[in-house]
Amino acid sequence: MPAVAFVPNSAAPLLELRQLHLRRGASEVFAGLNLALNEERIGLIGHNGAGKTSLLRLLCALEQPHGGQVLSQGQDLHALPQGQPRARRVGMMFQNPDDQIIFPTVEEELALSLQPLGLPRREALARARGFLAERGLGDWAARAVGSLSQGQRQRVCWLALQLAGPRTLLLDEPFASLDLPGRARLADDIAGCAQQVLVSTHVLDPVRDWPRVIWLDAGRVRGDGPGREVCAAYEAAVAQEVAHARAAARAAHHAVRLAA
Ligand SMILES: Nc1ncnc2c1ncn2[C@@H]1O[C@H](COP(=O)(O)OP(=O)(O)O)[C@@H](O)[C@H]1O
Ligand SMILES: [Mg+2]
Repeated sequence: MPAVAFVPNSAAPLLELRQLHLRRGASEVFAGLNLALNEERIGLIGHNGAGKTSLLRLLCALEQPHGGQVLSQGQDLHALPQGQPRARRVGMMFQNPDDQIIFPTVEEELALSLQPLGLPRREALARARGFLAERGLGDWAARAVGSLSQGQRQRVCWLALQLAGPRTLLLDEPFASLDLPGRARLADDIAGCAQQVLVSTHVLDPVRDWPRVIWLDAGRVRGDGPGREVCAAYEAAVAQEVAHARAAARAAHHAVRLAA
């Protein structure tokens, strides 16, 4: 049987979820999620456990859905061969850099990101060094990853993702462990990116002015629209939840005192 040629459909969304199902043990994380993701900047917000990381992992084929499809420009992402065909489309930066970094030195880690593109090791290392030098980080090349701070290790992951240069960059909680200057630098870097960027985050300011923010709640889309509106709706819901929880705690405390 002849191999099926994959021809991207440029009219289709960059990424699309169709009737996506994901189970973890007895619980269903997604039960028929549908989303078309075509905007160049998309924020993903919601409580812990809402499904943000699971969604990003499905979107770069690190995880297999139990039902439905992840489409990349109309093609089933999970049916594409691993390596270059997928790596050119999507890449992900994990929340914890230590879950991502494999190699002992910065240049080797950056070179690894070029491996799926089929570059010989020597050329990949040369590109990695050049990439660092262009950013004033030439002295990082031979540094041991273990000698870097967590924020710096995350920057290595971010540089590796930029060097690989997939069409879509998926960033999982990238602001969470950064200091304020680090957050500002990453926000500037994202603003300067030529690619589509999806960011999951509890730090809302970097995505507040984005054209689209999606609010996930227990695996379902509870808000989807301009960042200002969706972030404000999420903050209002959180304020209400906190007020209810405090009132319930006060009532419980009062009941204990009455019983004593
Ligand atoms: N490795 C895992 N094993 C079992 N359940 C998991 C695992 N990772 C996540 N989950 C569950 O999947 C759901 C979604 O989690 P996750 O995608 O990590 O949410 P978020 O990133 O929004 O915090 C949660 O109920 C979580 O407990
Ligand atoms: Mg998460």
